[in-house]
Amino acid sequence: MARDYLDSALEWLNDYTGDNKNLLAIGGAGAVLLLGSIYILPNGKDRHRLTGGGIKADRVKQEFNDYADAYGKEAGAGITDRTKTGQLVDTFYNLVTDIYEWGWGLSFHFSPRLPGKSWAASEAAHESRLAAILQLLPGKKCLDVGCGVGGPMRTIASTSGAEVTGITINQYQVQRAEHHNKKMGVQELCKPVQGDFLKMPFKDNSFDAAYAIEATCHAAKLEEVYGEIQRVLKPGGLFASYEWVATKHYDENNPEHVKIIDEINFGNGLPEMRTYKQAEEAGKIAGLELVMSIDIATASSVAGPWYNRLGWLMKSHIITFNSTMVWILARLHLAPAGMEDVHTMLVRVAKSLCDGGSTGVFSPMHLLVFKKPASPGKDQVANHVSA
Ligand SMILES: C[S@@+](CC[C@H](N)C(=O)[O-])C[C@H]1O[C@@H](n2cnc3c(N)ncnc32)[C@H](O)[C@@H]1O
Repeated sequence: MARDYLDSALEWLNDYTGDNKNLLAIGGAGAVLLLGSIYILPNGKDRHRLTGGGIKADRVKQEFNDYADAYGKEAGAGITDRTKTGQLVDTFYNLVTDIYEWGWGLSFHFSPRLPGKSWAASEAAHESRLAAILQLLPGKKCLDVGCGVGGPMRTIASTSGAEVTGITINQYQVQRAEHHNKKMGVQELCKPVQGDFLKMPFKDNSFDAAYAIEATCHAAKLEEVYGEIQRVLKPGGLFASYEWVATKHYDENNPEHVKIIDEINFGNGLPEMRTYKQAEEAGKIAGLELVMSIDIATASSVAGPWYNRLGWLMKSHIITFNSTMVWILARLHLAPAGMEDVHTMLVRVAKSLCDGGSTGVFSPMHLLVFKKPASPGKDQVANHVSA
């Protein structure tokens, strides 16, 4: 709640500052620092204490260094040993989950900004779009593939009435999701589970529908996670995904494009980036029929760019002040040593994400909708809407 007021106040400040932007930004940022320093300190389970998630405080620096070393130095390398992807992604989310909750919110994804709506409302609309596409209704069972701390799951279960089971590789996120679900009174419909989405602990044909929001991009092989989703979906069930992709504007021979994508991979725990065509193909390899393929980032001519929220966080110097706070907290032993390195990585990637968005070479929301064939083995000819 405090964050909502703070966000609205800062957005208001941003809209009304005009030519006095710098002066007001400094005043505003001072207030953020003051409020933030209160907000970040321990406060029961709702605290925004920055921990290493499931990693002990004295291991955070080393785990971060090991994570960084896992990325190849050559352009386009990504994670060099792809067999370690799951373990590295788990480490990544141990390191960033508290920072994401503190600096971003409970939904770990982007959304276009709808005209006249707040970022929170735009985010909820982006999540609810999936409930509509999947035709979720009370009594339906839906799977959230890579559920984070459950922000989307809570919106989708409460708007549709469907039961949503979420899977995340990170045990700490399960704890956080359970805490938020209980606090918001949605635990009856929202069930987070720890597990690897490449080997899901669910029976064949057990879900009416499934969705993934900015999560399957973490798989070492996209067709493998899509294959698991195909297995657990009931015949005829739909799967919708907001995929992180290189768009049709990406040129693998352009060093600037490659650099942007490399930085995005490193700062987000991705083994590599796929093109949207490769993602479409991965679904077909997994035995799914492509129903829809459209980049939501550019679909609406009136919605504001998804990366503006990050851009605004940078422009208003909130990110810089947050970095200072993390540095101070680490020095005071209120945050683990190494947390400032993690924060620096996230600050750097915020710029790369904005560059990826503004050049149009990257989208975190290419919507792919697939269907599990009603009778497996039948000719999987794509009969799809494409844009
Ligand atoms: C960017 S977060 C998105 C979380 C959530 N969909 C949201 O929008 O708030 C990516 C999620 O994918 C999960 N994930 C990545 N690799 C995974 C794997 N192999 N098995 C299960 N979950 C995985 C992470 O743990 C994290 O929860």
